[in-house]
Amino acid sequence: MHNQPLKIIQISDIHLHSDVRGELLRVNTHDSYQAVLDLVRAKHAKDTDLIILSGDLTQDGSLEAYARVADLIEPFNIPVYCVPGNHDNPKMMKQVYPRGNVSNNKHIVLKNWQIILLDSHKPDAVEGYLDASELEYMQHCLQKHPDQHAIILFHHQPVPVGSRWLDKLWVTNADEFWAAIAKYPQIKTVLFGHVHQEFQQAVNGMTIYATPSTCIQFKPHQDRFGLDHLPPGYRWIHLFEDGHIETGVERIAEYIGVFDKDAKGY
Ligand SMILES: [Fe+2]
Repeated sequence: MHNQPLKIIQISDIHLHSDVRGELLRVNTHDSYQAVLDLVRAKHAKDTDLIILSGDLTQDGSLEAYARVADLIEPFNIPVYCVPGNHDNPKMMKQVYPRGNVSNNKHIVLKNWQIILLDSHKPDAVEGYLDASELEYMQHCLQKHPDQHAIILFHHQPVPVGSRWLDKLWVTNADEFWAAIAKYPQIKTVLFGHVHQEFQQAVNGMTIYATPSTCIQFKPHQDRFGLDHLPPGYRWIHLFEDGHIETGVERIAEYIGVFDKDAKGY
């Protein structure tokens, strides 16, 4: 019986440094990640099936930072999956993981759902790109399990989110992605990070979602970079047997530290 939904937590854009004192625009990313994990524990400790980290796990791509991402989340004692973001070092991720409960698995099949994790990291670039090999892998998974509802997750946004500076940094071949998924109605949503804000939009008969960062938040609908006053958070996602999804964002009470409201970039 699958009466209980599959319960997922999405955590995004952690931006850890090798040094625990490391900051991003005056926000200590280690403390901010820990505060978000504490909130997940308080709200979902007993009923979460898995956690997905949707890219920018680290700011500096260091071994120490990847190890600490895993060590801080290990007490949850449930599987944790991840994809690389533009700040990540995919080679280092493969070297450090699996570690604790963080694995390198990219295809999760559970109950009557499947979650397909793709790599939108483009070497030496801030914008994203989904290589032909990633799109082929996605289609291979979908064809192998045609009766499972599906979720696709990667780091960069596959639609403009309404901020000119940030939308230059999306998945630059998003049209190829949308063309590739058009013939798979079993795909129920696409989840991503990168935009450091809560976002949702109806696309091709589904609703797709972005998740806030565990550290700095980008102000929505801006021509130029700017930070928002909203505190960090995470997204919960419940996947039901009939294919419907319920989801929401939770935030910690306030920023950890004082963010630099005049920052012009990061
Ligand atoms: Fe980020």
